[in-house]
Order: sequence, then C-alpha cells, then structure tokens
Amino acid sequence: MRQTPVYYYSSKSGMVKQFANNLNRPVFDLSERDIRTSVPDGPWVLLTPSYKTGNVDNDTIPEPVKRFLKNPETRRKMVGVMGSGNRNFGAHYQAAARQIAHISGRPVLFEFELQGTQWDVEDAQNILNDLDHELQRAHKE
Ligand SMILES: Cc1cc2nc3c(=O)[nH]c(=O)nc-3n(C[C@H](O)[C@H](O)[C@H](O)COP(=O)(O)O)c2cc1C
Repeated sequence: MRQTPVYYYSSKSGMVKQFANNLNRPVFDLSERDIRTSVPDGPWVLLTPSYKTGNVDNDTIPEPVKRFLKNPETRRKMVGVMGSGNRNFGAHYQAAARQIAHISGRPVLFEFELQGTQWDVEDAQNILNDLDHELQRAHKE
C-alpha cells in the first residue's frame, strides 16, 4: 500500500525533523530547495511548526511552507495538516497549521508540542496508517 508522504519544515532546532524521522514513512524536508520545488506524486500531508513573527499581517507560516504551497497542483494534492507548536504562545498556538487547514479546507490531522512524546509519535503513525487505508479505498471506488 502507498504510504502517504509527509512534507515538513523544521528550523535549526530540529524538533519537527526529529518527529518526522520517527514516523517510519517517506518524509521530505522543505528546507531543501529540490524538495520545495518538487510536486508530490499523489496525496500528501503537511507537517509544520508555527513561528510568530510579531508582524500583524504576517501569519506564523514558515516561508519554505508558503513557497511549497504556491503550486496549485501541490495544493490540490494536500490531504491534511499536522502541526507542532508550543502552548506558551496562547492564542497563536498552532496558528500556522490551523490557518493552512482553514484556507485549504483540509483537516488538521494531529497537533503536538515541540518534538512530541513517544505517544504523540504513535498517535500520528496510527492516524497516517488509517489515512493510507482510506485513500486506497477511495482510489478503488
Ligand atoms: C520565535 C518562535 C516563535 C514561535 N511561535 C509559535 C507560535 O506562534 N505558535 C506556536 O504554537 N508555537 C510557536 N513556537 C514554537 C514552535 O513552533 C515549536 O517549538 C516547534 O516545535 C519548532 O519546531 P522546529 O524546531 O522543528 O522548528 C515558536 C517558537 C519560536 C522559537
């Protein structure tokens, strides 16, 4: 069965990268230019941290994520969003993942703080495995 790939962005602190690498499925790093300019070959999931910039207009969506989402085909193929954040940011908690989900009409599949716990990793793996099955079923119909 096809494993839905996860495209993620992670800053130097690498918390999202650590989480992504524990998912046991194809994951792609949007900080790499080749990845950011590619188009996924099928349904895919976004995993993004939130970064509040302090600028009112500017949301908290990391720039590489914005660039990747500029391509309409890429946007069409996105099936869900996962977010990493920190509750200390209060009203801005998970702002990037939630904003992208809202704009795209795709669901927030999972949210966790920082690099997540081992239970977060297991939950995310289960959610993604269920998604793989759903997508396979939808594809057959
Ligand atoms: C400058 C800065 C701004 C942040 N802004 C937010 C925010 O607005 N909302 C949120 O939920 N988390 C916020 N966070 C927390 C990060 O999203 C979280 O730590 C994430 O795990 C970072 O992932 P990374 O290390 O892979 O980049 C912020 C962190 C930093 C350092």
